[in-house]
Amino acid sequence: MVLEFDPAFIQAPEHRPRPAVTEAGSIPLIDLSPLHLLEQHGGPLVAGLEVLVAQVEAACRDWGFFQVINHGVPLAVVERAWAASRGFFALPPEERRRVRRDEVNPLGYYEAENTKNVRDWKEVFDFVVHEPAVIPSPGEAGGGVDRLIELRNQWPQLPHGFREALVEYAQATEELAFKLLELISLTLSLPPKRLHGFFKDQTSFIRLNHYPPCPSPHLALGVGRHKDAGALTILAQDDVGGLDVRRRSDGEWVRVKPIPNSFIINVGDIVQVWSNDKYESAEHRVSVNSERERFSIPLFFNPAHYVMVKPLAELVDEKNPANYEEYNWGEFFKTRKNSNFKKLDVENIQIYHFKKANVGQHPTTSVTARARRTTK
Ligand code: OGA
Ligand code: NI
Repeated sequence: MVLEFDPAFIQAPEHRPRPAVTEAGSIPLIDLSPLHLLEQHGGPLVAGLEVLVAQVEAACRDWGFFQVINHGVPLAVVERAWAASRGFFALPPEERRRVRRDEVNPLGYYEAENTKNVRDWKEVFDFVVHEPAVIPSPGEAGGGVDRLIELRNQWPQLPHGFREALVEYAQATEELAFKLLELISLTLSLPPKRLHGFFKDQTSFIRLNHYPPCPSPHLALGVGRHKDAGALTILAQDDVGGLDVRRRSDGEWVRVKPIPNSFIINVGDIVQVWSNDKYESAEHRVSVNSERERFSIPLFFNPAHYVMVKPLAELVDEKNPANYEEYNWGEFFKTRKNSNFKKLDVENIQIYHFKKANVGQHPTTSVTARARRTTK
């Protein structure tokens, strides 16, 4: 037993999961078989690709979430990743803690994460897709020029083959992430590779999530409600279910139905800003249950730390002005991580802090200053 229920896990009454969450009218399901047509893509969209692009556009616009099948990631690769994850979380706690994250290295095992200052009923293992990943040093308060650090993965000795399975999974899902990025570019009437440059020196990471059975599933959440901060998330979930997405049309929480050999895709805050609010990063959370443990594996596809995030120049003009001030991805990520790592009495940083204020107001481009400004 690693997690023991205590008051740190209790959600405020308005955020506790209510028992019946609808599965009807759930997020769109998209067949990615026409993806191979991207390779030949040059001029106008060929018919099969045109349909796919239209489906992705509608899903990003109406939900910010969709599921994909025929995605090209081999089943055997996914199954080896599941076996690695199950094997790791079945190890004795002291074995898992050998690769526990700390103030120096934020990668590895962790069982005490908060979302919006409430503890999540979960344990995780994080690793970066490209080593070393360069990010601003987490310790510092910001404001000045950040010191950079190089993140390297902490791989456990056990279970055997853990690292190999996950490196292979990372390569296959990263390839899918780039293809989805091309589709998203096409939905914005941009050249397919328009966004690729932001992912040189990327800070993407993969998280193994383990949600043990919870004695009080009506009081706690596996992950509290949040939006993913990066560009895209590609998530594999097992057959237990528990991911709830906030439906844009009416604000209801909708359970995402597990579909074998599929991935769940969601656009993160960065795509919301790039698209100048054409797409919205949807709020989501994980409900837990008292009977079955649940596993999931998200890939958070994130740009380089030095990328300045702002609405794409091609999408703004006098009639459609930019809705956001630009912000630095590394600093944003650092500020968010800090508030998830430590239980701080501050609201964590959100993109709406960069929404353009009324004309005449002075913009602040420092992420930390923005976070402080809204501290309650
Ligand atoms: C996350 C997340 C969903 C899930 O880790 O950011 O939203 O189903 N996970 O585990
Ligand atoms: Ni998430």
